[in-house]
Amino acid sequence: STSIDCHGVHQAGILVPAHQPCAIITAFDITGTTKGDLQKLLRIITDRIEFLSKGGRYPDAHPQLPPAGSGIIGMNVPPDELTVTVSLGSSVFDERFGLASLKPKHLQPMMRFPNDMLRAEYCHGDMTLQFCANNHETNMHALRDIMKAVTGLAVVRWSIDGFLPKGEPGAAPRNLLGFKDGSANPKPKQADDFLWTGMAPNSQDEPAWTKGGSYQAVRLIRNLVEFWDRTPLKEQEMIFGRDKAHGAPLGMKSEYDEPDYSKDVDGKKIPMDAHMRLANPRTKETQKSLMLRRPYNYSLGLQKSGQLDVGLIFICYQANLQDGFIDVQKRLDGEPLEEYIKPFGGGFFFTLPGFKKGEFVGQSLLI
Ligand code: HEM
Repeated sequence: STSIDCHGVHQAGILVPAHQPCAIITAFDITGTTKGDLQKLLRIITDRIEFLSKGGRYPDAHPQLPPAGSGIIGMNVPPDELTVTVSLGSSVFDERFGLASLKPKHLQPMMRFPNDMLRAEYCHGDMTLQFCANNHETNMHALRDIMKAVTGLAVVRWSIDGFLPKGEPGAAPRNLLGFKDGSANPKPKQADDFLWTGMAPNSQDEPAWTKGGSYQAVRLIRNLVEFWDRTPLKEQEMIFGRDKAHGAPLGMKSEYDEPDYSKDVDGKKIPMDAHMRLANPRTKETQKSLMLRRPYNYSLGLQKSGQLDVGLIFICYQANLQDGFIDVQKRLDGEPLEEYIKPFGGGFFFTLPGFKKGEFVGQSLLI
């Protein structure tokens, strides 16, 4: 299987050519107490990412010692297009590590939005690792490898598994409400304008070490699918502003057609409160809220009530968290879609800049 090089100006897992179909998002609490501990942690993680994403053989185990790898994908580890993306929460910039003056300007604990029903056991964390690969067992193997390697320095706070349907070729994969999700994502070649901290025009006032990183907003959003499946098609389409079969903006033909709201000022084609229209009104003033969405679907089985416990792991990246996720979510507050969704977890994190061979992830922050 093929490998994605983990080295570069940016971490490899944000702008992958094609979304890997499987993910695990794991939030950790850092139990180390000094800046040296934090450095040690990030060095170990770098070392493990370099091994796991390239693939290779574990050393033979001594019968009296635990084997090096979990063994679930064999002792010869295939790369399987694994990416592991490392991000830090605002709590890392408290007094513990002496890094307060270096905190990314917009990094803060995730606030509660009006429709949220947050569960403490699924919120925040000092660090997230986002594992993406072509197979679930690759992610599970990588998570267990890293958990073992960071013993004494970090513990898991919460974790959730994500999946994506194969998707029609050239089309965005569908979410669990049955709509294509990701169609209007900005193109990778625009990335320098909105995605990378310290590089985008709205991100020039950040600590120098952040350059090439990105803010990561994670939201765990339950979908009330039984209720949704009893909602008329027309209403579903009005809620998003797109047709369900093809994903085209209402009144248009193709998924990638660009709506022109200046010709639809009263919302006759695409309702004024449609999800896509509120999220991106396509005005000059809202241009700065562009973000890259990389969501996954999740299933936690069944709720006690007998309803499916399924939904979206919403993940987005942007150069400026305020202009991106926070402003967009504020515009979405009160949207008709809220009747069918319940955010219950997540957090705000800063995805560290990329690293070269011989460097470690987070080096510009710590050295
Ligand atoms: C667009 C679904 C939550 C931001 C879309 C689209 C769908 C969708 C189907 C249209 C296709 C596309 O362009 O990708 C959902 C579902 C959600 C959810 C099911 C929750 C369960 C959010 C959240 C945000 C967000 C929390 C950010 C705060 C956006 C943006 C667009 C979009 C920026 C693109 C609008 C455009 O440029 O036309 N979403 N979304 N979505 N969504 Fe969401």
